[in-house]
Amino acid sequence: MFTKMKAEDYAFVHRFLNEKEQALFRKMTEADQRHCVAVAEDAAEQVLLPDQQWLLTKAALLHDIGKGDCSLLLLDRILYTIMVRVAPDYLASLRLSLGKKSFFTCRRQALYIQHNHAKRGAHLARSIGCPEDVVRLIGAHHGDREDHVNMRLLKCLQDADRRN
Ligand SMILES: [Fe+2]
Repeated sequence: MFTKMKAEDYAFVHRFLNEKEQALFRKMTEADQRHCVAVAEDAAEQVLLPDQQWLLTKAALLHDIGKGDCSLLLLDRILYTIMVRVAPDYLASLRLSLGKKSFFTCRRQALYIQHNHAKRGAHLARSIGCPEDVVRLIGAHHGDREDHVNMRLLKCLQDADRRN
């Protein structure tokens, strides 16, 4: 169930993200922001070393920034879940459409972003100078191949993502 962002959630975000990172965080929907805070709090409990906790919290707060600037309809989420099973090649072939925005091109764009948000998020994070360990965790959080990713932290992130 969707819970709103509270003052303490924003304080938490403030503590771990710099201004550029916060700007990307705020481009997500409020539901996605709240999800990321919940994932970050959960994931950080799974590691003990402060350095790793810091990296993992940052990565968890930012892991879905690739979905920013795009509000998925319930229809898009349902469509995506079906298409992952029945038409993965179609999903992989989707490209960002820059032309006229009809109802159908918006749905295609939403599917594209849902399918590519991990890579898109890693690209955005890298473009603002996030630590490379954080970038790799974001890029790999849905199982995409990413070199030199910390597998232990990745597993904590993926488990917390599933639980929240
Ligand atoms: Fe994600």
